[in-house]
Amino acid sequence: MSDLKSVLGEAVEAAFAAIGAPPELGRVTPSDRPDLADFQSNGALAAAKRLGKNPREIATAVADQLAGDPRLAAVEIAGPGFINLKVAEAALSDRADAIAADPRAGAASVAHARKVIVDYGGPNVAKPMHVGHLRASIIGESLKRLYRFRGDEVVGDAHFGDWGYQMGLLIGAVMDEKPAVAAVVEAINAGGQGDVSAFEQVSLADLDRLYPEAAAKGKTDTDYRDRARKITAALQTKQPGYYALWERFRDVTRVALERDFHALGVDFDWWKGESDVEPLIPPMVAELDAKGLLVDDQGARIIRVAREGETKKKKLPDGSVVTVPSPDPLLVVSSEGSAMYGTTDLATILDRKQIFGPDLIIYCVDQRQADHFEIVFRAAYLAGYATEGQLQHIGFGTMNGTDGKPFKTREGGVLKLNDLIELTRSKARERLREAGLGENLPPEEFEATAGKVAVAALKFADLQNFRGTSYVFDLDRFMSFEGKTGPYLLYQAVRVKSLLRRAAEEGVAQGPVTVAEPAERDLVLTLDAFDAALGEAYDRYAPNALAEHAYRLSQAFSRFYAACPIMQAEPAVKASRLTLAATTLRQLELALDLLGIATPDRM
Ligand code: ARG
Repeated sequence: MSDLKSVLGEAVEAAFAAIGAPPELGRVTPSDRPDLADFQSNGALAAAKRLGKNPREIATAVADQLAGDPRLAAVEIAGPGFINLKVAEAALSDRADAIAADPRAGAASVAHARKVIVDYGGPNVAKPMHVGHLRASIIGESLKRLYRFRGDEVVGDAHFGDWGYQMGLLIGAVMDEKPAVAAVVEAINAGGQGDVSAFEQVSLADLDRLYPEAAAKGKTDTDYRDRARKITAALQTKQPGYYALWERFRDVTRVALERDFHALGVDFDWWKGESDVEPLIPPMVAELDAKGLLVDDQGARIIRVAREGETKKKKLPDGSVVTVPSPDPLLVVSSEGSAMYGTTDLATILDRKQIFGPDLIIYCVDQRQADHFEIVFRAAYLAGYATEGQLQHIGFGTMNGTDGKPFKTREGGVLKLNDLIELTRSKARERLREAGLGENLPPEEFEATAGKVAVAALKFADLQNFRGTSYVFDLDRFMSFEGKTGPYLLYQAVRVKSLLRRAAEEGVAQGPVTVAEPAERDLVLTLDAFDAALGEAYDRYAPNALAEHAYRLSQAFSRFYAACPIMQAEPAVKASRLTLAATTLRQLELALDLLGIATPDRM
């Protein structure tokens, strides 16, 4: 099922070929001047250059070739040799019928399905999620859905951060504060029995409170830090007391995280942690060593990834400046013998290769980790765990406060994701009430609708920007029912749903589409552009292309709805317009679903 852009593109390419011009120059794009044409081809300019002819002459020859094509109502030459195409109404009507009959609402599948792992979310044990994890979750979830929809085999993995230095810090801090817990840990460490029910007194609130304190103390107090490092190393050899307490941390955190992800409509196929690759690390280190990649560096073991001549200037603590290789080396084994963040990432690549054999792994992680991934990827390529290009860091900018810095609470602390979700939900309730929406809904349905409006507001505000762009958190704007927002899109979808319900009640059926009015043309051309938007989002890791499409579709529908009465029209027109409305709804809901946004039935 091809869109008009491709079908007409083929016709124009054939016309180029027929006049002896390179066919690929016949490429067609949506018109820059929708008031004059639907599509255009600028290829006559390049063809003229190649053939040493006048571009208008080429364009005219191409237009002559296209004359008589029943799909085209007009072919005109503009300016120096642009070819403007206006689609015939019958062709638009046929295309609308085809989209209406297509379960995929006009979207194609990829010719070559890939196996893809999407590494996203990236929550950590004991550290509540913050707005950085929000963006990772929103963007990753959307890419996962998009790839799957286009036909790839996709696995979404949370890559739970559960194995680093922060674990050693926290184990120490909890043991300092809770002697009963410490006694059990020590007894088990010493090979004895211990009653692990004592660990039940460790709650998520304890971890939330203790972690920042411990992290701060570790920065200034070297003894404290060294102890945490030793505990981390012992945990990583699965010393049983530490390990048992760590399991408690992991479990209580996971419950809270799943609640937050659920509220956001985010879910993972794998919930693997850094700790899961622990058994792979010793053989991996041995293998890296055997390959000659490991270098000793003051007791630690590293892989040098910088190539000949790649350097940067570095300022030393004494103020002097030296030139060092860049990127930094990968720290594989610390001087305490611990695996580091990069070590688990490298081993995870190996693990994923063994379990799934992906063609591509994408990492949806804050742009500020770009250097980390560059280092890990280079090490993986050197080790032969992946081939160049198979690993992609999909970085994104930050969500900022009005001060232009990463968003903080009013008190200056990091805003927890759970609090953000609550805040957004209460705003959604308030807005619905102000707008007089959802008044007649039973309380649970009102609540569910408010939840959907909240998620739509957060996700659409994020996904409408190209991911690299940072944006300002402005809940009032995100939550408006007007403008380019999630709530506006939901409102449009609900409006169509209620129209369709009314039609069903009155027994009005849908029928074949006949495009006549300008607003109908515009709506069908917009429906037709879905596949191209999906393709762009897919190729460029850019869900914003899809968000843009959803917005344009809503606007095109809105204009159509204003200009073309439906229920009052005569029967054939009514049936045609109902098909257009139903098809718009299906495509809009699908696009929103691929953005991770669910639509309520009523408001
Ligand atoms: N846990 C990390 C963080 O909070 C993100 C993990 C990203 N994924 C990865 N494979 N390193 O910063």
